[in-house]
Amino acid sequence: MDTLGKTITCLAAIAWKTNSSLSLEEVQVEPPKAGEVRIKMISTGICGSDDHAIKGIIPLKYPFIPGHEGAGLVESIGEGVSSVKPGDKVLTLIVPQCRECSACLNPKGNFCEKQDILPSSGLMLDGTSRFTCKGEKIYHSFRTSTFSEYTVVPEISVVKIDAAAPMDKICVISCEVPTGYGAAVHSAKVTPGSTCVVFGLGGIGSAIVMGCKASGASRIIGVDINEEKFPRARALGVTDCLNPSNLKKPVQEAVKEMTGTGVDFAFEAIGLAETMVAAWDSCHVSHGVCIITGVSPPNSKFSLSAQTVSTGRTLKGVCLGDYKTKDCFPQLVTAYLQNKINIDPLITHQLPFDQLHKAFKLYHAGKTIRCVLLF
Ligand code: APR
Ligand code: ZN
Repeated sequence: MDTLGKTITCLAAIAWKTNSSLSLEEVQVEPPKAGEVRIKMISTGICGSDDHAIKGIIPLKYPFIPGHEGAGLVESIGEGVSSVKPGDKVLTLIVPQCRECSACLNPKGNFCEKQDILPSSGLMLDGTSRFTCKGEKIYHSFRTSTFSEYTVVPEISVVKIDAAAPMDKICVISCEVPTGYGAAVHSAKVTPGSTCVVFGLGGIGSAIVMGCKASGASRIIGVDINEEKFPRARALGVTDCLNPSNLKKPVQEAVKEMTGTGVDFAFEAIGLAETMVAAWDSCHVSHGVCIITGVSPPNSKFSLSAQTVSTGRTLKGVCLGDYKTKDCFPQLVTAYLQNKINIDPLITHQLPFDQLHKAFKLYHAGKTIRCVLLF
């Protein structure tokens, strides 16, 4: 079927209002405009950030099509697009890389000014949407909206990857792997023999554990309120598991007692102010590094004892492992193909896209590390 230049009617998941369950709908996806790319999705992961968006913890405009961790094939390109062509295997980028803004021009960091997360317009760069459903305009999420058989994204939000990439799994390199593994190996640069604590053993926390292990950490303490996460975490490299609900003392005190001094590296992968403070307090007073990867609700605040700051510890927020997305994600794909990173243990479930509700049920029940939906 020739779809070039035509509106495509296909299946997509829509969040109609805050905290409602997603509904599978027939949507119309317009052709890409100048500087845009239309993608036929092959796989997409269910990430904590999608759940945050659906619950309104990351505020988006309703109704919208969620999803950002995506892999697919380029169906068609708009005028002026040069970095991808129809048929290319690509990943979607929740944080784009425009290569022109103050963030992209700085060698450090990656939070491109053209991102559409905080705050979110729900629209393409020209201020319009490419989706409609029953005649109503549907908003984009993060300019990726991967919970749709077809999506349209700006060229800066998509990157070509190796043609040998396995498309049923590789989507996790669009978020889970850089966010977690990258936080440990690229951002914190965990050192051999070091001690680490990871708060939250979901998708992101598991990828952090893998990164700590790959970096040669000697001790990795995993913290989660769901003990079902412990066996898998141990298999990935966690040496000690803590359930804060079963402790008679604050978890940071338990971590300090276990290590004697506090850890060299603490990671937060939940998105709660209280666990961010606990991660900070778990760090070695002098050289400890506290890395925050979780995204918290707007207006959520935490306070730290000011004296604990003056002793030398570092607090750092990290988005997607500090990787410049368009430059680095294809390299992560290649590293996977060369067996330098193993993403397979991070994917615990794969389901057809139309079983999205079952997938979310498993996610909410805490049964999944990553569930990947297949189109
Ligand atoms: N203390 C300890 N663990 C907790 C707590 C808590 N108070 N609350 C939740 N958890 C655990 C959950 O049991 C779960 O195992 O945190 C884990 C979160 O994992 P997921 O829900 O799989 O989310 P994930 O995709 O890993 O994202 C985590 O990172 O990118 C951000 O926005 C994302 O803020 C989210 C975070
Ligand atoms: Zn994500």
